[in-house]
Amino acid sequence: MKRNVLLAVILVLALIITACSVPATTEEEDEFKIITAEEWAEDYPDQYASCLNNAEMEKTTYGGSEPYDYLEKYPELRTLYDGYGFSIEYLRSRGHVYALEDVIETARPKPGASCLSCKTPDYLAMINEYGSEVHAMDFDEMATQAINPISCYDCHQNTPGEPTITRDHLTVALELLEEEFKMGDLTCAQCHVEYYLHPETKEVTLPWNNGITVAGMEKTFDDIGYYDWIHPDTGSPLLKVQHPEFETYQGSVHSQFGLTCIDCHMPPEENEDGDLYHSHHWTSPLKHVAQSCLSCHTESEEELIQRVEDIQWEIDLKTRVVGETIEVLIKELAEAVESGEHSEEFLDLIRDYHRKAQWRWDFVFVENSTGFHNTQLARETLDEAYMYVREALELLREKL
Ligand code: HEC
Ligand code: HEC
Ligand code: HEC
Ligand code: HEC
Repeated sequence: MKRNVLLAVILVLALIITACSVPATTEEEDEFKIITAEEWAEDYPDQYASCLNNAEMEKTTYGGSEPYDYLEKYPELRTLYDGYGFSIEYLRSRGHVYALEDVIETARPKPGASCLSCKTPDYLAMINEYGSEVHAMDFDEMATQAINPISCYDCHQNTPGEPTITRDHLTVALELLEEEFKMGDLTCAQCHVEYYLHPETKEVTLPWNNGITVAGMEKTFDDIGYYDWIHPDTGSPLLKVQHPEFETYQGSVHSQFGLTCIDCHMPPEENEDGDLYHSHHWTSPLKHVAQSCLSCHTESEEELIQRVEDIQWEIDLKTRVVGETIEVLIKELAEAVESGEHSEEFLDLIRDYHRKAQWRWDFVFVENSTGFHNTQLARETLDEAYMYVREALELLREKL
């Protein structure tokens, strides 16, 4: 409790300091001038220094910041993502400081400049300059105008302290929902969400018309007949999930208890003078369990990590079993298509099960906590995926 009071005092002080230290230009002039992280280094040395730690690349048992090759670790991905960019290259994510260079260097095709939306604050300046046309403009051309990776501006605009939402795609999507969310989750929901590019404008769009559940988002895609690509061997119109950390986390044990992303991912740190500030090193909380978890949990650090890894072991194994079963379905469905012995109506029924199963499997697979953020939801989602893939295999095999 004492710590919380101290933190509150520091936050108020920080806000006062912030108000005094904004460079002396008018607010309007400031609006689309992005003050860079380096320029804030002197005023906020602790936050700035911890941001630099995002360059660290240490892995944990199931997560962490090493950009290892998913296609090598999970060979079934080559079949599941066949015909789509993720079967060419798919590396695990790493720290925020690499966001811009990683999107520029990926071997995956980039449908428009909108791929920069969540990698650099400079994209906000481009929207200001070119309007909504920018989303469909050439990626490579626009990327040369981007200099900053994710920076203070993305969460604070030009006034570090309280977080603000800078991404319109989130503001627009929130208007579709009745629920209220906490700022500590929304700050991260600007980027750590499921999204698709609007087929015409290429703008980042969140599929929240029917809520943020797995079935709700699927319904939004079904209603507009959306698919990311057609599997070349089966003809199934498939969806690729991105990184639904925000949606997954809602309703979890910790969320019900009132925690937000920043409680675990931005715990309080003490500087040399004994002052508290929020860590700005966004990585696996398993690297700092004492600061993030032991204010509530009474286990030792090792015991708590073991509890997390037991969950992750189970979900990782389940994900693999479901993924490999979908791989079997793809092979058998491809043969059924190839044989020319089945009606399109029958094949479409199986393709629909394939789509449903793969959407659910991917939802858990790409969510970056390997089931920790919401274990109950991960289990249920994989169970549903397995049900669809079994059903499809049974129907197919009955016809053989
Ligand atoms: C109760 C604590 C807790 C909360 C709250 C929480 N996370 Fe996590 N998060 C974790 C743990 C534990 C992991 C697993 C890390 C590992 O496997 O090494 C994780 C993993 C991640 C990862 C992958 C990191 C890596 O290094 O592997 C991302 C990204 C992430 N969380 C984002 C979020 C977002 C966004 C929110 C809010 C919507 C959130 N988390 C809420 C504890 C939490
Ligand atoms: C402007 C977009 C954006 C915002 C806002 C954002 N992230 Fe990220 N985050 C990314 C991107 C992009 C990556 C992957 C970067 C890469 O791999 O090059 C990432 C990676 C991460 C990782 C993995 C890094 C590692 O070392 O394991 C964690 C953890 C994470 N973010 C947590 C958070 C949390 C918590 C918040 C909210 C406080 C947040 N992020 C807000 C875009 C964002
Ligand atoms: C990914 C989002 C994100 C980025 C990027 C970010 N911050 Fe923050 N910042 C936050 C959040 C969230 C808080 C905590 C707000 C709260 O709960 O009071 C915070 C708090 C702060 C505070 C208040 C004191 C404290 O530590 O709680 C300062 C000052 C600050 N940030 C400065 C910076 C600076 C300077 C940068 C760039 C070098 C930066 N931030 C980048 C999200 C971010
Ligand atoms: C604000 C208090 C609080 C914090 C901070 C917190 N937890 Fe929890 N955690 C809880 C509560 C309450 C429960 C539910 C009761 C239980 O299972 O112990 C829980 C449950 C869990 C469970 C069991 C979940 C399940 O599905 O069985 C694990 C594992 C866990 N927490 C790990 C962590 C880790 C790792 C961190 C830090 C990254 C963390 N917690 C931070 C309060 C907290």
